[in-house]
Amino acid sequence: MLMALMASSTESSKWPTLSITLTFATISASAVMTGKYFIGYAVDLHRCIRLDLRKAMLQPKTDKLETTYPMTPIAIIQSCFSTRNGTPRQPLIVPLARARLTFDTALVPPASLEGLEEYSHCWIIYVFHLNTDLDKLWKNPSRSKLKAKVRVPRLKGEKMGLFATRSPHRPCPIGLTVAKVESVRGNSILLSGVDLVDGTPVLDVKPYLPYCDSIEGATVPHWVKMDDLLTVASVEFSDDFLASLTDCWPAIDKKSLYTSPEEFQILIKQVLSWDIRSVSQRTQVEEKCEKTKNEQVFNNKGGDIIYHLNLEGLDVAYRITSNSNVLVENVSFSPR
Ligand SMILES: C[S@@+](CC[C@H](N)C(=O)[O-])C[C@H]1O[C@@H](n2cnc3c(N)ncnc32)[C@H](O)[C@@H]1O
Repeated sequence: MLMALMASSTESSKWPTLSITLTFATISASAVMTGKYFIGYAVDLHRCIRLDLRKAMLQPKTDKLETTYPMTPIAIIQSCFSTRNGTPRQPLIVPLARARLTFDTALVPPASLEGLEEYSHCWIIYVFHLNTDLDKLWKNPSRSKLKAKVRVPRLKGEKMGLFATRSPHRPCPIGLTVAKVESVRGNSILLSGVDLVDGTPVLDVKPYLPYCDSIEGATVPHWVKMDDLLTVASVEFSDDFLASLTDCWPAIDKKSLYTSPEEFQILIKQVLSWDIRSVSQRTQVEEKCEKTKNEQVFNNKGGDIIYHLNLEGLDVAYRITSNSNVLVENVSFSPR
């Protein structure tokens, strides 16, 4: 009987399948137990159930919000990005950005990865574990005031409602990214195109399915399309650069996700072809340039600030000139 009721609901209902199935199961089960619908009168069984169902769905389910779900990370990321600074703002924009995702075999048997290598890309669901406000958020939620609006780099720091952005600062600090599956070996996956920091805890991995995950004709607000604000005009390397990289290469060689200093140099170029500075770093420089311009001593070379980027424990020092050309100075070993 339960099965028959559920089947008829599936045919005619317009409500979401999951909720309806769960609610239906509850109502049908209670109906069977109390005998309410089976006392022999000419009751329109189907109509009654639908009314009860509608009532149940309209009731606020505050109790559900109080439930916590114990989700444990099942894997960890070894990424080329040692810190948040320089980690791409979205996936696939730095094709050579590599990471190794390693499953905890006590929780996930390696056989669970069988077949994944046949997909070109996968989704990764993870925890923004380096958010500086996590302690407050989890240990003292009532004192942790959620910021409803966040500063958007593409809008030069203007604010937007957090759910209209992909900011890491969210009420549930869960990240969603897509990466290229390079290879699958034992309990680990080699990925590229990642926007994940080293040490990121992973909650789940799912294959990317173009037939339903890629939406033809999907639209976005105008500001999401403004890429030029975040790119630089050129990336060049100083004469000493390669020598400094070759000098420190032995320090990372064995653990590196890259095969040579030359390949690592391409990674640096791809990462720095985006303006990775924070909104406040950029604004400070723009204000300084504006002031200098007003004083009529504007130096077109600009770039007297040295910025740093840490990749696989190597500190990359670079400058950005006022017209957005990056000059990579040198590299030094800076263990994490
Ligand atoms: C704008 S978020 C978008 C992330 C993801 N694609 C999403 O939409 O959920 C990307 C930024 O998150 C930060 N990030 C990456 N991994 C993180 C982690 N484990 N903890 C905190 N922040 C992280 C980096 O600064 C990176 O630039």
